[in-house]
Amino acid sequence: MHLVYKHQPGKQHLELSVLLFSISLLTFSTAVFASHTRLIPSEALSNEPIQPLYSHEPLDPKKIKLGRSLFFNPRLSRDNSISCASCHHLKKGGTDNQRFSTGVGRVTGKINAPTVYNTHLNLAQFWDGRAHNLTEQVSGPVENPLEMASSWPEIIQKLSLDNNFIRQYQSIYNGELKARNLINSIAEFEKSLTTLNAPFDRYLASDNKAISQQAKKGYAIFKSYGCSACHQGANIGGNMYQKMGIMADYFSERGTAITETDLGRYNVTKDEYDKYTFKVPSLRLAVLTAPYFHDGSVKTLESAINKMAHYQLGREISSAEVQLVIAFLKTLVGKHKELTLPATE
Ligand code: HEC
Ligand code: HEC
Repeated sequence: MHLVYKHQPGKQHLELSVLLFSISLLTFSTAVFASHTRLIPSEALSNEPIQPLYSHEPLDPKKIKLGRSLFFNPRLSRDNSISCASCHHLKKGGTDNQRFSTGVGRVTGKINAPTVYNTHLNLAQFWDGRAHNLTEQVSGPVENPLEMASSWPEIIQKLSLDNNFIRQYQSIYNGELKARNLINSIAEFEKSLTTLNAPFDRYLASDNKAISQQAKKGYAIFKSYGCSACHQGANIGGNMYQKMGIMADYFSERGTAITETDLGRYNVTKDEYDKYTFKVPSLRLAVLTAPYFHDGSVKTLESAINKMAHYQLGREISSAEVQLVIAFLKTLVGKHKELTLPATE
């Protein structure tokens, strides 16, 4: 029996072993069934490149509630037509499943929308990492002319007419509405979007039956091909920048002209070395967030995996192996009360 909860008893005394065993049974069931606890990998699996997701703590429930109401509030956009949730559908995986999103005035964006789930674990925000954290990130879409095309003074003017909102706001922050506090509450809500207790995380925490044999084979392939050199850690991505097209030229073979957004992290650093590099995306919800890649050019997960093997690893992967990797990726989807899980086949 492995202990899987973080409050692991220290040195064990023989006399206490019976007691400890029953405690471990108890903590095991807490870790597996309570959605807010942190799963700790069993000893055997603690050196894996992938680790269980953990929630951001502590968080303020009142701020989360206010931030959630702002996330769904179209008054954050210039013409009151779209909210954050218009492009980040929380029920469906935190994206809009479009190649490029549609902003205010039906203008089309230039880059694929990533999920808003689990982003507090990423080393920075956006594909090119131009926002250091979620607080910096929030102003991006609000002021982006291709997205919400608004400004904080404009938003504050609109929200000032809403007495309910002001009452809710003043139960947390003092005084009049301030951009910094609105941003703080949205960031707090974003930090609460962690998809916990995925079958794969339960497997890591020694529940050997939590995933199928197919998924276990898929995970072995994922590691042996070298996918986990880049997609790793608790978010299975999000912790490094990597070039798109290490072993072959993705952009010339794509067949469409190179755009400014294709330059990736170079746009932030102006360092030649950073051309075509992107924050490695998280694969936690990849089964829900088609289409794929920063350019949204790839419609299916099968094709994304084929291209990854080819461009990042210089290998061709068989379709049987791709299916096993997909069986593995399906086990990475955890639970969150905003997310509707797809029916299992
Ligand atoms: C018009 C569609 C649209 C709207 C509205 C929108 N987003 Fe986004 N969001 C995107 C796109 C596209 C990106 C990727 C931009 C980039 O990387 O350059 C993105 C990126 C993000 C990221 C970064 C995720 C990561 O892994 O890097 C977060 C977090 C996020 N949005 C949250 C929000 C919040 C909060 C709001 C509301 C204030 C919002 N978005 C409004 C389309 C949208
Ligand atoms: C050298 C680093 C590296 C390796 C190795 C790698 N990837 Fe990636 N992966 C990336 C980067 C960078 C992106 C984003 C590329 C882009 O958007 O242009 C990405 C994107 C993806 C996506 C699309 C995610 C999304 O939300 O758009 C999937 C799926 C994926 N990788 C799976 C895999 C699999 C499976 C393997 C192994 C066969 C693998 N990757 C190997 C770096 C890597």
